[in-house]
Amino acid sequence: MTTRTRILTGITTTGTPHLGNYAGAIRPAILASRDSNADSFYFLADYHALIKCDDPLRIQRSRLEIAATWLAGGLDVDRVTFYRQSDIPEIPELTWLLTCVAAKGLLNRAHAYKASVDKNVETGEDPDAGITMGLYSYPVLMAADILMFNAHKVPVGRDQIQHVEMARDIGQRFNHLFGKGKEFFTMPEALIEESVATLPGLDGRKMSKSYDNTIPLFSSAKEMKDAISRIVTDSRAPGEAKDPDNSHLFTLFQAFATPAQADEFRSELLQGLGWGEAKNRLFQLLDSELGESRERYHQLIERPADLEDILQHGAQKARAVATPFLNELREAVGLRSFVAQTQVAATTKKKAAKAARFVSFREDDGSFRFRLLAADGEQLLLSRNFADGKIAGQVTKQLQSGQALDVRNQDLGFSVWLEGQCVGDSPAFADSSARDAAIEALRIALTPVQE
Ligand code: TRP
Repeated sequence: MTTRTRILTGITTTGTPHLGNYAGAIRPAILASRDSNADSFYFLADYHALIKCDDPLRIQRSRLEIAATWLAGGLDVDRVTFYRQSDIPEIPELTWLLTCVAAKGLLNRAHAYKASVDKNVETGEDPDAGITMGLYSYPVLMAADILMFNAHKVPVGRDQIQHVEMARDIGQRFNHLFGKGKEFFTMPEALIEESVATLPGLDGRKMSKSYDNTIPLFSSAKEMKDAISRIVTDSRAPGEAKDPDNSHLFTLFQAFATPAQADEFRSELLQGLGWGEAKNRLFQLLDSELGESRERYHQLIERPADLEDILQHGAQKARAVATPFLNELREAVGLRSFVAQTQVAATTKKKAAKAARFVSFREDDGSFRFRLLAADGEQLLLSRNFADGKIAGQVTKQLQSGQALDVRNQDLGFSVWLEGQCVGDSPAFADSSARDAAIEALRIALTPVQE
């Protein structure tokens, strides 16, 4: 049994990773995967990408770039399971099983969907204008990603916390409906790394593609330099003291520097280092931190067949977990092979027959009786009174002989007859379906076992 913590996260493949993605998600995830207690599952959420993007070239490009970025950044695929969501057919299959237990009301409350509806309403559109079932069901697909591998911890941004909560909700519901006391799914927890840098972009707002203020990660040294030159600074001239704590250029520097390097840079700024020179320092730092990875990145991008192999191998590892687990889940909901089913029924019978017991006892008046108890100890039948112990014994033998049982319903109970004589009665059950289940249990218990 593994005691390692399973950490799982997905990266939607719609863009090219920038410096903010690297510091905020990629670098911490790669570091976390090196912990010997971590069992990391990282994947390209390319099915999720289809929800936001209908440009096949962009999807394909982004998958390649993101895969290369993680590998170039030092992800060790022998340690972690790194795969494309779309290579795991068990995921859409599980999505459907979960869709069938997910409450529509729960999904109505998803932030992303609600925001789209609100926007439509504001602009006087039909509330559902432009909203696909993909967007609506997004959290169910994400729940399948997480539950498929029984992740304990799910590192995500704050905007995704609700989705992890929904995964718990849906997983719990499935456990409850089909688990029969067994917890199929582990309850995942969102992991929000407080200490991880949210990098400011060129203009000081959070670095984000949607603000168009990003610094490219591995494209080229020149592009990185050009972006850095566009970092907005105040108008203090060279020689004037700068305020590091109000400079996002300094924040960017700090995110990649050792504490000693950051201290030195801070005092230089306080002593009046010019912004042009400061930008130079930032470029030097980033280039020395990321230059090697950038080279690896370009080597990888140029060998897509190697990347394909690596991801296929990752898919194999992931499916070694997913395939047997999904089989168990299919079994649980009733999607079973007809052949397997008779086998299951036969073993159930065997077990029930083995475990069902006749318990004989004597009444105060000296008469002989017996009870038939099911495997779980439930009383299925209480015999009538027999004057002779031998007769009581013969009745139990006859009941187990395999001859057709004469069972007669009596309100919420039943009685069992042999040769025109009532030999025993059941207790009264809560309702007729409980009674019918007990009759079925009785038949199973009394069917002779063929070894
Ligand atoms: N929805 C996540 C995002 O946009 C990506 C994602 C898909 C994910 N499936 C996941 C993250 C499972 C964590 C776990 O950031």
